[in-house]
Amino acid sequence: MLKSWLLGLSLAVPMSRGQGAFKNPVLYEDYPDNDVSRGPDGAYYFSASNFHYSPGAPILRSYDLVNWEPVGHSIPRLDFNSDAYDLPPGGDRAYRGGTWASTLRYRKSTSTWYWIGCTNFWNTWVFTAPSINGPWARAAQLAEGGTCYYDCGLLIDENDDMYVVYGNTKVSVAKLAADGLSQESTQQVLTAADVGVDAIEGNRFYQINGTYYILNDDPSGATYIWKSASPTGPFESKLLNRNIGPPLPGGSSPCQGSLIETDNGQWYFMSFTWAFPAGRLPVLAPITWGSDGFPSLVTGSSGGWASSYPWPAGLSARVLTNWTGTDTFAGSSLGPQWEWNHNPDVKSFSLGSGGLTLRTATVTDDIYDARNTLTHRTHGEQPRGIVHINFAGAAAGDRFGLAAFRDRSAYIGVHLSSSGTPQIVAAFNQTTDEYGGPTIDLGSIVATAPVPNGVEDLWLRVDMDVRPDGARTAIFFYSVDGDEWAQLGGAYELYTSFAWFLGYRFAIFNFATTAPGGSIKVLSFTSS
Ligand SMILES: *[C@@H]1O[C@H](CO)[C@@H](O)[C@H](O)[C@H]1NC(C)=O
Ligand SMILES: *[C@@H]1O[C@H](CO)[C@@H](O)[C@H](O)[C@H]1NC(C)=O
Ligand SMILES: *[C@@H]1O[C@H](CO)[C@@H](O)[C@H](O)[C@H]1NC(C)=O
Repeated sequence: MLKSWLLGLSLAVPMSRGQGAFKNPVLYEDYPDNDVSRGPDGAYYFSASNFHYSPGAPILRSYDLVNWEPVGHSIPRLDFNSDAYDLPPGGDRAYRGGTWASTLRYRKSTSTWYWIGCTNFWNTWVFTAPSINGPWARAAQLAEGGTCYYDCGLLIDENDDMYVVYGNTKVSVAKLAADGLSQESTQQVLTAADVGVDAIEGNRFYQINGTYYILNDDPSGATYIWKSASPTGPFESKLLNRNIGPPLPGGSSPCQGSLIETDNGQWYFMSFTWAFPAGRLPVLAPITWGSDGFPSLVTGSSGGWASSYPWPAGLSARVLTNWTGTDTFAGSSLGPQWEWNHNPDVKSFSLGSGGLTLRTATVTDDIYDARNTLTHRTHGEQPRGIVHINFAGAAAGDRFGLAAFRDRSAYIGVHLSSSGTPQIVAAFNQTTDEYGGPTIDLGSIVATAPVPNGVEDLWLRVDMDVRPDGARTAIFFYSVDGDEWAQLGGAYELYTSFAWFLGYRFAIFNFATTAPGGSIKVLSFTSS
């Protein structure tokens, strides 16, 4: 009955972003492992994973579940007792470490936000803040001795007790101490075998009308919901969806995410679809509750996760931010859309006098070892990034440019020779182990062009097609005036393996191959 109602309605409303309907993905950007919950201001807050990028654990805000804006991060610096997060010269690196499948909740009784997550290297951390805008600070290392709250979900229940559900295959519930900063007890509450699957993870914990619910997934494509009168079980389970048709071609079946209630009493499941090379894109669908106390997913007319659903009842559309546009680095700090590759060397960059100055922070010939590479998510199916750089301060041996950045990267940039002569290069396929191991390939220069005499300003551009069923390419251009463009090199084939967990980003880099001392000034960056 519900399906025919939806079908009837969907014929009557335009299938475009607006008051009538919303489209999936709700945001064509790489924000995986969402935990969506309400803040004290009634807004919806979305916490995501960003692994080895710093600051960590990005936060988005929305008032209508469809339009989102970046507000900041829960982890100001990847401060997990390992210098690997700082990319020390010749030392360990933290690729695929950092934040993944963590949880964010507001506790009313103490007006405190909590972020909890297990990071590599396998400990659980608590960061807290008095406001979503911060200041965020590390408050505790939980379960010292190595317990990892794998794929965890925090619940602050009606008694103000704090519980964390966590685990892969064997799922446990820990009760936290009154301040939420240590573990009081923990016990296993369910296993994958209970529902006859090999793995269960991606845990979230809710209390709805007194009943405790755990939401989690079999990562091969099924979502389960479990309920119990007690936070520690026994839990009874129901399948929410399995191998559901994805809302975009080439995406995976959405299965992990969070449940959201609106003030109107409507419920939604915010999940994500694996859609490399773009990344993992948030997708939203309504759910309804049955008389058995379990929810059902509202599917599209074909039985899959619909690419469009009716606009959330009672929520007026509020466009918050333009995800594309130009940043001239005019502020005193970087906006929340920027994340460094690993923790930055803060002495080696500065904002002011009309731009972002990047002094070379590492001497290396490996982009994956270079500190202070500044990244920006791509937006949309065919994203374009343009950076305007003044390189009057670059030194002999320096390399700077704009990359399509992932475990297999490619860039357009400038290499300065040992005598200081700059040359524009397209360099392809800098490759690092997709499971976080060493660099495999430093990449190769595929095309070069001279820098015209006297030119100290260049515009560098990359056009990508990141649709999983699209061309999956990056094509590079340069310009001496920001107007006329010359392509350099052919189309670089973007890599689509899932193992890196994150999609391609724009990355602005500047490193030395011989000696520190050089710098560039980034005058603007435009994403479209
Ligand atoms: C919770 O209880 C309220 C009041 O009885 C009811 O309107 C609502 O549908 C219930 N919610 C769920 C998810 O069962
Ligand atoms: C966002 O900015 C782009 C230019 O980068 C512009 O084309 C687009 O219309 C803007 N969208 C909104 C909603 O303002
Ligand atoms: C990139 O490098 C890797 C490792 O050397 C290699 O397996 C792969 O074929 C290369 N891809 C391209 C497009 O050159």
